[in-house]
Amino acid sequence: MRAPYMTRLGLAAVLFAAAVAACSGGNDDPPGGDNPPDSGNHDSGTPDAGDSGTPSTPDAGPDAGPDAGEPDAGVDAGTDAGTPDAGLPEGTVTIPNKLSELGLFTGSPATSDFQPVAGNIPYELTTPLFSDYSLKSRTLYVPAGKAAVYSASDVLDLPVGTIITKTFAFPADFREPDKNVRPLETRILVRQPGGWEAYPYVWNDALTEADKAVGGKVFKNFEFIDAQGVAKKFDYLVPQRNQCQKCHHVVDEQDNQQLLPIGVKARYLNRDHVYDGQTLNQLQHLADLGKLTGLPPAIQIPRAPDAFNTAEASLEIRARTYLDINCAHCHNPKAQPGITSRLFLDIKTTDEFSLGHCKRPGSAGNGVGGEFDIVPGDHSTSILWYRMNTEESGKMMPEIGRALRHDAGSQLIADWIDAMTPRTCK
Ligand code: HEC
Ligand code: HEC
Repeated sequence: MRAPYMTRLGLAAVLFAAAVAACSGGNDDPPGGDNPPDSGNHDSGTPDAGDSGTPSTPDAGPDAGPDAGEPDAGVDAGTDAGTPDAGLPEGTVTIPNKLSELGLFTGSPATSDFQPVAGNIPYELTTPLFSDYSLKSRTLYVPAGKAAVYSASDVLDLPVGTIITKTFAFPADFREPDKNVRPLETRILVRQPGGWEAYPYVWNDALTEADKAVGGKVFKNFEFIDAQGVAKKFDYLVPQRNQCQKCHHVVDEQDNQQLLPIGVKARYLNRDHVYDGQTLNQLQHLADLGKLTGLPPAIQIPRAPDAFNTAEASLEIRARTYLDINCAHCHNPKAQPGITSRLFLDIKTTDEFSLGHCKRPGSAGNGVGGEFDIVPGDHSTSILWYRMNTEESGKMMPEIGRALRHDAGSQLIADWIDAMTPRTCK
């Protein structure tokens, strides 16, 4: 059986954390920023311990335990659920300074009992984004009485009040990935009445709390031992709040940038997860909980393969899946980098030139390994591969979100390019 959600974030991790030199960034919210100290109104749209009887009541669930860990102080301080802050539209979620105050988790990594509350549903993706080898745990909270609407190709249509979380963590040694796991940050996306908002939270060294850090943070000289036993040291970067939309955005018809989730699409969610000891399809589980409507029969639901499982799909489909989840949020016809570079790496693109075949880059930088994005049959002169394989900032792709090379990803794309029918580009 899979171990439950991050229970292994242990005390030993505190010791490990002490070895980590952290610096800069942190809690530099602008004074008078977006977090008025009116803790009494945190509950509009967020889970509320007083909102009894609904499936998403935080501490109603068997595995959350009644008021395990920190009670969600401020969340239920005397106002009715759904009462908006004065002057704010109905359903607005007030964003607290402390992650615990969202009421979505109980316990803490310091005491190895950090758990999503009932109704804050853990999920995994068939193929995730690579982020410097960090382990990620994701949860989806859809407010009581509301549900997501299924889409075959786009992100699920999630109702106002939805909160998605993603926690990034590292074990001290990837050969023992369950031990000494240290969370660094938890990112959240919140569906407000006016659209999505993104916030980073950074875990303190004691691992007792994650604090909102709109300025991001650098964990300088962060160290771990990789799966091969090689020590790695690098600067781990928590993005600033305004960098979230570099990836989480589309440009709409009016030329406005809109923030959006990326991974919560049917094809990436279409996999099993163990819930309370039971292996269930994630989408079916959401539908069974009343949190997803419009789910078609299983056979009709698309599925992106695990890009690194050769048994699941062809090299072509696995490589395209990897590019879709790692690159397409920027390289698509509706995102700024895609619009500028005309390089489209999303799964829908079929035109070879838009995918980079014999395409000269628009922004012709020097020393990026070649003249064309993809030289079919030869990865070693293909810019697309070069920029994935390098760790040089200004050249590497994605341009943010990693400092280290993803060896397996870079190899997958090399294999994909080498398997193409060779062509001389002009
Ligand atoms: C380098 C691009 C990139 C940046 C920068 C980025 N994200 Fe994401 N994020 C992704 C991708 C791709 C996914 C989906 C794949 C996954 O979860 O592994 C994702 C997923 C998420 C999710 C899970 C819900 C979803 O969209 O699927 C949350 C929550 C999230 N990001 C929050 C944030 C916040 C907050 C920031 C800024 C502090 C941020 N992200 C910055 C690329 C990025
Ligand atoms: C955060 C947004 C972002 C992500 C994610 C991203 N890119 Fe880019 N990419 C850009 C921008 C901006 C440019 C144009 C400027 C430049 O060339 O550096 C670009 C340019 C490129 C180019 C040159 C394209 C041309 O024809 O001009 C290649 C090749 C490339 N990216 C590959 C990738 C690959 C492969 C991935 C995923 C592994 C990826 N990118 C992910 C933002 C992104």
